[in-house]
Amino acid sequence: MTATRSVVLGCGSYLPQQILTNAELAARIDTSDEWIVQRTGIRQRHIAAEGEFTSHLAINAARAALADAGIDAQSIDLIVLGTSTPDHTFPATAVAVQAALGINHGAAFDLQAVCSGFIFALATADNFLRTGAFKRALVIGAETFSRILDWNDRGTCVLFGDGAGAVVLEAQPQPGEASDRGILTTHLRSDGRHKSKLYVDGGPSSTRTVGYLRMEGREVFKHAVGMITDVIYDAFKATGTTAEDIDWFVPHQANKRIIDASAHKLHIAPQKVVLTVDLHGNTSAASIPLALAVAVKDGRVKKGDLVLLEAMGGGFTWGSALLRW
Ligand code: ACO
Repeated sequence: MTATRSVVLGCGSYLPQQILTNAELAARIDTSDEWIVQRTGIRQRHIAAEGEFTSHLAINAARAALADAGIDAQSIDLIVLGTSTPDHTFPATAVAVQAALGINHGAAFDLQAVCSGFIFALATADNFLRTGAFKRALVIGAETFSRILDWNDRGTCVLFGDGAGAVVLEAQPQPGEASDRGILTTHLRSDGRHKSKLYVDGGPSSTRTVGYLRMEGREVFKHAVGMITDVIYDAFKATGTTAEDIDWFVPHQANKRIIDASAHKLHIAPQKVVLTVDLHGNTSAASIPLALAVAVKDGRVKKGDLVLLEAMGGGFTWGSALLRW
């Protein structure tokens, strides 16, 4: 029995030049490097320059992913971009990426699932590729959260950063076995009862303004590990794999304590966990492809490795993806 799988051909990322350290934040607001590192593991984050938009970060990441895949942009027929910080209310930031890459066939759209945006985008593209609707997809996570932070709220502004990451997926026939390359399973969840625990207090239909990010940090923390591990157990069950089989765990990079607790609960060895939250902060939908790009570039993630991805964020939304690189 053969199966069509979405195989990763390449990945890439882009970070704005400006780095904002904890020490620099401590000079502006009542916080300290020690507090931020101890509670979150974050040491610095990148901040987009004036005039540098989410689309600019996404275009750079997309170009890097295409170069890594060694393919021409013209062969892409689907772009799915996860973001909660689009350039404009509409059109989708994905069409700005499409235009910059000189593509005018196929489809490009944004998807909004906050920090789970990349997992939701990956699952969406995977489903389109497996049905044969499209052949090659760019899946992008790109954010400029610095634009929706209340820089006077020390409880949130120390947590987030800007950046973008992308992967190129191709529909390929595979034997239909656990050893297949490509995306083996994805699991998506949402529960809107939690929508007020992490939200932005503005929007085109409600306030006609962009608004600022608001969060009940403790409430998010309380739910995170359980939700993350639940969807990972779903991935294990669907594929008959266990934590032992995982070569690399590339979680959403929100908080080192959440990542450590999730890996511990799942019995995933610490040396298999890819951590970039110290350098990037929480870049929402961009954090997983940013971390993937680091681990591919430094030679950790190699062809044939079993890679486990997960995310949880506003909504709440949460999800997992298991793939063989
Ligand atoms: N620097 C110094 N002190 C601070 C800061 C800061 N940046 N922020 C808050 N504090 C203070 C508070 O005012 C409070 O002081 P008080 O006791 O005098 O009132 C004290 O620290 C404790 O505040 P809490 O909010 O209870 O701190 P907590 O230990 O819960 O840590 C944190 C806060 C880091 C936000 C934690 O709740 C957390 O990590 N939550 C998960 C949130 C998260 O990761 N969100 C990302 C988006 S969701 C996702 O991606 C999964």
